[in-house]
Amino acid sequence: MARSLTGKVALVTGASSGIGWELAKQLATEGCKVGVIARRAEPLNELASQIATTGGQAFAVPTDVGQRDQVEGAFASVRARFGPIDLVIANAGVGRPTLRDPVNMGDVEDTFRINLMGVVYTVSAALPEMLARKSGHLVAVSSLAAYRGLPAESAYCASKAAVSVYMDGLRMHLRGTGVRVTTLCPGFIKTPMTATNKFHMPQLMEVDYAARKMIRAIKAGKKVYNFPWRLHMLIKLSRWLPDRAMNWVMGDYDAEAQQAVADRQK
Ligand SMILES: NC(=O)c1ccc[n+]([C@@H]2O[C@H](COP(=O)([O-])OP(=O)(O)OC[C@H]3O[C@@H](n4cnc5c(N)ncnc54)[C@H](OP(=O)(O)O)[C@@H]3O)[C@@H](O)[C@H]2O)c1
Repeated sequence: MARSLTGKVALVTGASSGIGWELAKQLATEGCKVGVIARRAEPLNELASQIATTGGQAFAVPTDVGQRDQVEGAFASVRARFGPIDLVIANAGVGRPTLRDPVNMGDVEDTFRINLMGVVYTVSAALPEMLARKSGHLVAVSSLAAYRGLPAESAYCASKAAVSVYMDGLRMHLRGTGVRVTTLCPGFIKTPMTATNKFHMPQLMEVDYAARKMIRAIKAGKKVYNFPWRLHMLIKLSRWLPDRAMNWVMGDYDAEAQQAVADRQK
């Protein structure tokens, strides 16, 4: 049965744009008080004031989720403002290609620090209080990319596979404690992260539609939510395809990846 979110305290990481921004807005509409976290203060404050103008409550705490002390500090600030945190959505992430020669090591290290350790720091900061209260809900935004390594996306796919497996273990470890765990694995969503992709993105979703589906899955207490289901099936089936077929599907992705990294370094 779907649980109501009215009156709950939620914390969303990566709320300064894209999915996190939309999740925070929709949670506020559902009646949550929302702590919003990301590195950039300006868009976070803009989000908080947009939520306030519609009668909701949001509190912005600029934070780098790859820095454990900052994450702990952000949780303390949101608790001081709104009280115990009921729902945490570890959504912050970066999508950077992985080059092969030379490997863009800084991007690879950032990818694991933000996408994986950012989730670990976020759920760890929430856990002691949730365990003490015997209630709470930990959610991570992984990806359908967790199910298949892709050329020039090695680090991103590996970081998301690690998030999904981490959350699987955590869910089982927390059985019987009253703390629930949900892993969200979306396909392609229109956000700043995908805006510069030149390749075809099958079943590309609007961000408000995707956030609605995510919130429905959270309210239903799903363990793992993969969507859209057709793309999920295709990606699972693609694990049986030979590498050369995947390379053909991905096209000239190596050149695109090099261009994307060069553009970001400008
Ligand atoms: N868009 C898709 O198709 C898609 C599909 C599957 C999964 N996902 C996942 O969904 C999540 C959100 O992605 P999005 O598409 O909404 O991308 P986005 O628009 O680029 O948003 C990424 C968010 O993460 C924040 N962030 C990045 N590094 C951070 C750090 N070190 N500390 C705190 N916040 C940080 C960014 O804020 P600041 O820059 O202000 O820090 C921003 O708010 C990511 O985990 C992504 O991997 C996206």
